[in-house]
Formats: sequence, C-alpha cells, structure tokens
Amino acid sequence: MDRAIAIEVNRLCKDYGSHRAVADLSFQVYEGEIFGLLGPNGAGKSTTLRILITLLQPTSGNASIFGHDTVREADRVRRLIGYVPQERAIDRFLTGREHLQLLSALYHLTREDAARRINELLKLVDLEAHADRPAKTYSGGMKRKLDIACGLLPNPKILFLDEPTLGLDVQSRLRIWEYVRMLKARGMTVVMTTNYLDEADQLCDRLAIIDGGCIKALGSPTELKVALGGDIVSLTIKETDRIAGLASALANQPAIKTVRTTSNGLDIRVESPEKALPIILETANRLGCGIEFIEYHRPRLDDVFIAHTGRRITDTAEQPVE
Ligand SMILES: Nc1ncnc2c1ncn2[C@@H]1O[C@H](COP(=O)(O)OP(=O)(O)OP(=O)(O)O)[C@@H](O)[C@H]1O
Ligand SMILES: [Mg+2]
Repeated sequence: MDRAIAIEVNRLCKDYGSHRAVADLSFQVYEGEIFGLLGPNGAGKSTTLRILITLLQPTSGNASIFGHDTVREADRVRRLIGYVPQERAIDRFLTGREHLQLLSALYHLTREDAARRINELLKLVDLEAHADRPAKTYSGGMKRKLDIACGLLPNPKILFLDEPTLGLDVQSRLRIWEYVRMLKARGMTVVMTTNYLDEADQLCDRLAIIDGGCIKALGSPTELKVALGGDIVSLTIKETDRIAGLASALANQPAIKTVRTTSNGLDIRVESPEKALPIILETANRLGCGIEFIEYHRPRLDDVFIAHTGRRITDTAEQPVE
C-alpha cells in the first residue's frame, strides 16, 4: 500500500560556522505515523527539527511539509505544524490558561474559539484542575503537559516534539507517551526527537538513528533489530586482563558475527546460539578467563545503536567503545 508522505527531507545539510551539525540527511515521514530521530547529545536532532519547522534555513538540501518547501513556503508550512521545543520558557507568573490565551492571540484565534480550544486542550492533558495556578508552581511533568497543549493549540496536522520526556519521572513519561499515542489515533503525524532508547522503541513506528549529523540506520524498531541478525551473548569475566585475548580468539570463529569488549567482559553477536555457546565457553575456559556471568538476549535497540555507531548512546562523542 502506498502511504501518503507528510514530510520529505532531501540531502539536508546545516553548518554552524565551520561545524557541520547536519550532514546529508534524507528521509520521509508518512502521514499518521510517529517518527523518531534517535541520537546522543549533539547528534543534530534539534537542528533537523528546527529546519523542518522553518526556524532555521538549511545550508544545502531541502525539506517539504505536505509538499510545501520549508524555506520558500515557510508561512504555509507554519500553518500546518505545531512545535514543542526542547526547552520552553514558561513564564513564572502566568497561569497555565494564560499561557494558552497568549498563544491564541498570536495565532489570531477569536476569543470564543480560543476559550473553547483552551478548555479542550486543558482537558486533554489533564491540567483542568491546575489551569488557574501560576505555572511556576507546576511540577516538571505538568510543565511538559502545558508545553504539549501549547504545541497543539493551532490544531496542527503534524506535531513536532523535541525531547518530550527529557528529565521527567517514570509516571510522567508514561502519561506523555499515552498522549502521543492518542494524537496518532486521532490521525495526527508526530515527529519527535529522543535520546532514550526505550522511548524510541516503544513509541515510534519508525525511527532514524542519527549520530554526528548523519543517519546511521532507519526503519521500524523491529526491522532494525531483525536486520542486525543473530542474538547477543554478554559475558562478564573475572580476569579482566584476559578480555582482549578472548576477544581476538573468538573474533574469527564462523558462528560468531562480532565481538565487542566492554569494561568487564564481552558482548558477542552470534549467528546461532547452539553453535556459538559451546565455542565461547570452551575458549573462555581454555584461556582461564573465569566466567562470572553469562547472559543471552534477542537484539535490543541499544544493540542496534551500538552496531551502527560503534558506541553506546550514553557515551559522549569523544569516547567510542573499542
Ligand atoms: N546555534 C548554534 N551555534 C553553533 N553550534 C550549534 C548551534 N546549535 C547547535 N550547535 C551544534 O550543532 C550540533 C548539533 O546540535 P543539536 O542541538 O542539533 O543536537 P541534538 O541532537 O539536539 O542534541 P541534544 O540531545 O543535546 O539536544 C552540536 O555539535 C551543537 O553544539
Ligand atoms: Mg536537542
């Protein structure tokens, strides 16, 4: 089935001075899906989002929203989108309702339309009971809900969420995930950035893994995991000075796809565990590694991330593993 395309990004680049923050990004977002940009700090996620919402101009390449170019038809694009920035300056003294009223004026809503819409939105994000309290008294999760209500005020066809749950407690994160799923169920297209693997895994229909401004992999979470091929055996070993020896002894075995050293052992991607496990155990014993713990799992999104970028998402850019 051909799916309608909501966003088309074509060879997008963005330089800040001599620093290339976004390098040759191309992808499409389908109408009605939740699309994620997953990457570590500084990967270029917010920069990409800001280009899509017309706040930044690309250095080269282009992007379009429902066929409208984000530079040449920026006004048209703005009428189709809502945006929840990574950090919104919530005014200390205004109430939640007053924030939304202020925005309604910016969007030129009539007083009646604004009042109706604001009530709907406050209900949607469970802020009705707190609407008339100064936002400075809100918890982190409540502030984020207000942010989302602000992003939804123009009734956008596409909602852009930059790190929707950054720094929130587990309960608040789950609530935000619920809202995002509900928006999708109502037919909205959602584009979000995140550096949480579980968020990308559970919420996004498809995602692009971004690192150093480049797309490293793109697909649904399941596709990305399946594409890795093979499962992962993680070893924790006592004699840590023997890790490197074990890694090189295992690296060329046919049943073993890749070997990655960790601080206290190895992560080994294997074709078939029945063949690989005996070889791993026998080699580790022969080299006197002292196996402390062995764990076996199907590929997870963190394995996908490591396979495509060579490091964990929580590592900084300067510290590649191996
Ligand atoms: N206004 C700016 N001027 C100069 N460099 C910038 C600017 N904004 C971002 N950068 C740089 O561009 C790169 C990408 O930044 P961006 O904010 O897009 O990353 P991000 O993936 O959103 O990161 P985070 O997860 O920390 O939000 C970084 O190296 C950053 O330092
Ligand atoms: Mg960002």
